[in-house]
Amino acid sequence: MAKVTIDGIEIDVPDGTTILQAARMIGPSVTPPAMCYYSKLKTSGGYCRTCLVEVTKGSEKDPRPMPKLVASCRTGVMDGMVVTNELSPKVQEARAGVVEFLLLNHPLDCPICDQAGECHLQDLSYEHGKYTTRTDFERRTFEKIDIGDYIQLHMTRCILCYRCVKVAEQITDGRVHGVINRGDASEISTYIKEAIENDFSGNMIDVCPVGALTDKTFRFKSRVWFTKPVDAHRDCPTCSGKVTLWYKGDDVLRVTGRKDAWGEVEEFICNTCRFDKKLTTDWIIEGVRNISRHSVISANKYKRLVKPKELTINDIKALPE
Ligand code: SF4
Ligand code: FES
Repeated sequence: MAKVTIDGIEIDVPDGTTILQAARMIGPSVTPPAMCYYSKLKTSGGYCRTCLVEVTKGSEKDPRPMPKLVASCRTGVMDGMVVTNELSPKVQEARAGVVEFLLLNHPLDCPICDQAGECHLQDLSYEHGKYTTRTDFERRTFEKIDIGDYIQLHMTRCILCYRCVKVAEQITDGRVHGVINRGDASEISTYIKEAIENDFSGNMIDVCPVGALTDKTFRFKSRVWFTKPVDAHRDCPTCSGKVTLWYKGDDVLRVTGRKDAWGEVEEFICNTCRFDKKLTTDWIIEGVRNISRHSVISANKYKRLVKPKELTINDIKALPE
């Protein structure tokens, strides 16, 4: 076990835990944002640098601070390590710089983007972004590409976090897409634009932290905060069948995996559950999904609402003059 202190809060964690995982064990108030790390995908992390933290004491044995900020998703804890995240001005400044870099090419088209309301970059730009840009260059733009019947790739919004590539590598059989070219010319592409026809390809949509990969069956149907998420399951031969249904009125507009407090799906689901089961009768309803009140998706959803008693004409007549 190793004792680590993050933003003044101490915790004992098993050896081999990363700083980011230790922070998640403490809670959201000390946890750095993570745009590329995804706990359910092996070798994810290390690409985006949003999770930088300051290590002010390396360990009990070697208490020297680390000379540079480190990527918390890729740095293991040492016994006696002291880390600052939210409390470090250096980290806050670096994070603002990372956001500025991510926004060099990512368009601020949130008003028309299906990911708005559940986009991690949108949240980050609210917290750290600036109103202006210092770049003189045009943002790079791409034509939209259909990846199979259900997924649309809008490369203009991609931040090259590699999560979708890891989904393809680790969850589907036979990857046909990846990152081609290098540096400024890098882009997600399917091998000679081959469609991804695989039972689990839809999970790329769930792991994409921005609106680069979207569900064609849901595109432009509704802002996500106007929908009502409900947990449901079915007896599925391919996956666990545990999903969230997103209702508008009586219609299921989309089906996704169930996302946890870190925006990660609890379990990956198959394409049949995601794209072909849009009737309430396909599902056993479990109940309304609990959404953090800090998320815009919780807007207009009142729990434990007690309606005030409406007065009738007789009540009014009975009131003292
Ligand atoms: S398409 Fe989405 S998931 Fe894939 S690399 Fe780009 S931002 Fe990441
Ligand atoms: S989450 Fe750590 S580098 Fe992206």
